[in-house]
This record gives sequence, structure tokens and C-alpha cells, in this order.
Amino acid sequence: MTSVADYAHLWEPQPGWLNTASYGLPPRPGWEAMQAALADWRVGATSWEPWDASTRRARESFARLVNASAEDVFVGGTVSAALAPIAAGLPDGARVLVDEVEFTSNVYPWKVHEDRGIEVVSAATDDLVAAIRPGVDVVAVSAVQSSTGAVLDLPAVVAACQRIDALLIVDASQAAGWLPLDVTGLDALVAHSYKWLMSPRGATLGYLSPRLRERCRPLQAGWYAGEDRHSSYYGTGMDLASDARRFDQSPAWFSFVAAAPTLELLEEIGIAAIHAHNVSLANEFRAGVGLPAGDSAIVSTRMPGAEEAFAAAGIRAAVRNGGLRVSFHVYSTSEDVQLALKALERL
Ligand SMILES: Cc1ncc(COP(=O)(O)O)c(C=O)c1O
Repeated sequence: MTSVADYAHLWEPQPGWLNTASYGLPPRPGWEAMQAALADWRVGATSWEPWDASTRRARESFARLVNASAEDVFVGGTVSAALAPIAAGLPDGARVLVDEVEFTSNVYPWKVHEDRGIEVVSAATDDLVAAIRPGVDVVAVSAVQSSTGAVLDLPAVVAACQRIDALLIVDASQAAGWLPLDVTGLDALVAHSYKWLMSPRGATLGYLSPRLRERCRPLQAGWYAGEDRHSSYYGTGMDLASDARRFDQSPAWFSFVAAAPTLELLEEIGIAAIHAHNVSLANEFRAGVGLPAGDSAIVSTRMPGAEEAFAAAGIRAAVRNGGLRVSFHVYSTSEDVQLALKALERL
């Protein structure tokens, strides 16, 4: 049986990178594919079609990673842009429930519709499931919270949404790549791939349920959303793809060139193995700072002086909402954890 350690040679992190929740580091296959494409671009060695083939591969790989059909997956540039057509499809007066610490790319797309009566209400992470009550039309929530690392009880949220027939929109940007995910029971799941999917910024992938697609206008449609792209370049005739591709934004080619082999590598290693690796390192860190074991790859804790101590030791982490945030991914090691703990020793 292969293990995460068998793949470690594909990354070259400088020790002390504890900030995948900000951005992930590329594996060699993604990095090299992108360098090759850049070299071709520089001299005009190829047409763009080979680059675009990567978008198809990334779409298919993402679909497998979240147990969706590729026909239900769209591509885009950012989470916020991907959510905008969904928000625009909501009726006036709809109520959207978010976590009170939700990342704003999953808040502002709803809130910009306040002038037509869309109301954004929030609940504390621990109270979210209880807050899914009649009167809520949409639940828009992260599978893993960016600032705290809290892992959503997705089955409980799915069940609560089904009880009141609310739409369920999940931002998986802090989850896809390490947390096992399944779109069953969801209306949308969107992930920007520059964190745990270890790709360049600009490659966002998402699942859209057929029932949600019927309610939404593909506001970002251009030639790329056409049923047949090559006959969609010019003119006033419009024949959009019949599947989720009609919600595609024309892709940032090079981001997808790196994303395709990286997503495929994640499939090969296996999300279950990565999940176990990441959570085990996070728990090693938690034990070292006196926290009980948790279930997340992200650890957030208030520790005065930690930011300065990390900076002095060359450890790269983040401060979010006043808390120190460290995060562990497939290329993180026990040595990284020990470096961090050593830096914090005197606090
Ligand atoms: C949960 C979450 N969603 C989305 C994003 C990025 O949003 P966007 O793709 O709109 O830039 C981040 C970035 O930190 C995030 O943590």
C-alpha cells in the first residue's frame, strides 16, 4: 500500500510552511506542466487547444473528487464570481443563512442583493444547524471555516435543509483536497483551487445541481459556455451548453494546466490518506500547545506573541480574526510541527 510519505518527493517546501489555508504549494507534475506551457506560450509553439484540454481534465477530476458527474461541474475564476449567478437567481426577499465567521466571498455575493429584499442572516458555527428553520431559503456555508478551521457537520446540514426544502450552497475552498466530500444532497459546491488543491489562483471549480441550474441565469456566458465552442465565436445566435458548462467562465488557461495533473495526483494519493496525514499533524501541534485533539487540518488559537515568535523563527503562518492560524497539508511534516512548537516554547 502506498502512503502520503511515498509522494513527499513531489513537493519542495522550505521548512516551516504552515499556511496552506492561504495558498497551497504545487506538486512537481503541476509545476512542470505549467512551466512547459509557459515555455510554449513564450515562443508560440502551440495552439491553445492543448492548454484547454487541461480544463476538461480538471473538471473530470474534480467531479470524481466530490462524487459528482462531470456534466454537473462548471469552471470559473473565483468563488465570488461563481456564486454571483446563483444569488441573482434567488427571488426577491429570499433569506440566506451563513456562518457568522463566513469568508466574505460567500457573503457579499448574497448581500449585494439587499436592495431587492434578500436578507443575509447569520448564526454562530455551533448554532448553525439549529438555525436552519422555516423561513430560511438558502444555507450558504463553508465546509471548513477559513478563520477557525471548524469542520461543518455536512450530513446534519443536508438533513436540516431537506426538512425545510432550503437550497444548500457549500464553499469548499478550505476543504477540497483534504476533506472527503460528496455533493449528494447539495445544490452547489464551489472551490477555488489555489489552497488545498495546490493550483495557481484563477481555477475555480463547482458543482451545480440540475434543480438549481433551472433557477439561475448563466450570467457569465460567453463563447466558452457554448454547446459547441468552435461554432460559438461570432454572431448573435446563442446555443449554450445544455449541462453545467453553460455556467462556465472562459478559463485562465495556465491555471488549469497546473490544476489538471495536480487534481489527478490528489486522486491517486487518495483524500482519505491525506485527511489522516493532515489531521494527525494538526493534532500533534494541538497537543504541543495544550489543546485537545480536533478533526481539522487547520488549527486556530489565540496566543499572544506567537506571530512575532514565528516571524523570528522563519515560520510562515497566518493571523485571522486575532487568532494564530496554522494549517497542514500533504507536504507538511512532523519536523514542521516541531519547528513551530520550538518557536512557541518560551510563550
Ligand atoms: C472559504 C474561502 N472561500 C473563498 C476564498 C477565496 O475567494 P475568491 O475565490 O472569491 O477570491 C477563500 C480565500 O481565503 C476562502 O477561505
